[in-house]
Amino acid sequence: MNYDKKTVLDVNVHGKKVLLRCDFNVPQDKETGAITSDKRIVAALPTIKYLLENGAAVIACSHLGKPKGVRKESLSLRPVAVRLGELLGCDVIFAEDVIGSDAKTKAAALQSGQIMLLENTRFEPGEEKNDPTLSKELASLAELFVSDAFGSVHRAHASTVGVSAYLPAVSGFLVAKELEIMGKALNDPRRPFVAVLGGAKVSDKINVINNLLDKADTLIIGGGMAYTFVKAQGGSIGTSLLEADKQDYALEMIAKAKEKGVELLLPVDTLAAKEFSPNAEPVTVDTDAIPDGMMGLDIGPKTVEQFCAAVADAGTVVWNGPMGVFEFDAFAGGTRAMAKALADSGAVTIVGGGDSAAAVEQLGFADKMTHISTGGGASLEFLEGKELPGVACLQDR
Ligand code: 3PG
Repeated sequence: MNYDKKTVLDVNVHGKKVLLRCDFNVPQDKETGAITSDKRIVAALPTIKYLLENGAAVIACSHLGKPKGVRKESLSLRPVAVRLGELLGCDVIFAEDVIGSDAKTKAAALQSGQIMLLENTRFEPGEEKNDPTLSKELASLAELFVSDAFGSVHRAHASTVGVSAYLPAVSGFLVAKELEIMGKALNDPRRPFVAVLGGAKVSDKINVINNLLDKADTLIIGGGMAYTFVKAQGGSIGTSLLEADKQDYALEMIAKAKEKGVELLLPVDTLAAKEFSPNAEPVTVDTDAIPDGMMGLDIGPKTVEQFCAAVADAGTVVWNGPMGVFEFDAFAGGTRAMAKALADSGAVTIVGGGDSAAAVEQLGFADKMTHISTGGGASLEFLEGKELPGVACLQDR
C-alpha cells in the first residue's frame, strides 16, 4: 500500500506561512526539566529544513505533557525552542502563547526562511476538545497546514485535526515515512512476517493481536501479557500479572491463530521471582508451573531460543512491547536477546514507539533497526488497523 496523502513536496511552500504541527512531547528530567531525549526534535528536522530552505516561514507548534488546558510553567516549550535552535543552527523565535497577542504579532512579522515555535498547545482549553474557535484562530496565523506529528496523529485535537478545516493540509516527511514503512510491513510484508508483542497488559493490545492474526505468519507473545494466555489454558502462574476477565479473549485468539494457520508462540519457561524488585533472585521455571508466591518477570532461556529462532528466519518483524521487566538488569535478558535477534536478522525490523523503543535504545540496538517509530499510542493504533484522524484529515494525492 502506497502512502496516498499529499506531502510538502506536492504543494508550493515558497513565500507561504506554514503552521507545522510537530510532536515535541519530549521526555524531561523531573527535577531539572532538562530534555532527556531529543529524538523527536531530531525527527522533525528534515521537514523543517525543507520548508525553510524552500522559502516558507515556519510557525511550529506542539503539545508537551498533559497540562489540561491551563498554563503550567514546567510544561513550557521554551526548552524545546532552545534545543531546536541548536540543532538547526539558527534562531528559533519563541511565542509566549498559542493564539494570544505574542503569537499573533510574531507570526505576522515572520519572514521566509524564519522559524518560530508557539507555546504548548495544551495550555489552551480548546486543544483536546478540538474546539473550532481555537482551530480557526490557529489557522489564521498561516496559509498552509503541515502535519508532521506522527506521535499525535491518533489524537483528534485542534492542532492535529481541527485546523485542517480552515487550511489546505498536507503531511511532512516524518508522517509520510512512518506510514509508508509501517503500512508496507502490515499490508505487503516480506515474508515470513513475524509480529512480536509484549508489555504488561493484554487489554492494551487486544485489537493489535486481533488485527495481526489476520496479517502475520507467526505471532510471538511475551511480557506480562503472556501469563493471562497461560492461565487461560489451565497453567499455574503464581502471582504473575493476570487479567482474569481477558482469559476468554486469550482462548479466542488461540483458536483464531489455529484457524488462520498462524504460528502462535507463547513462553515455555520463565524467570520468576518472589518479589517485584531489581534485587529479586531469578529462578527458571516452566511458564505453566510457576510456584505459588512467585511471579514471572522475564522469558526463560528455552523461550529465548525459540523466539529468537523464529525472528532469525523472518522477512519482516514488527515488535511492540518488552519481553520482561527490562528496567531491572536481572530481568532484561529476554528483551535484550530479542533486540539482538532483530538486529542480527536480515529482516525488515520495525519497533513500535513507547516502551519497546526505549528498551531498544537503552540496550544499545537502536541503530541496527530498520525503523523505530516516534509514536507510542499512534503506532499501536496503526497496528490495530484503526483510522488515524490526524492522517485522515490530510489532502489526498
Ligand atoms: C506520545 O507521547 O505518545 C504523544 O506525544 C501523544 O501524547 P498523549 O498521549 O499525551 O496524547
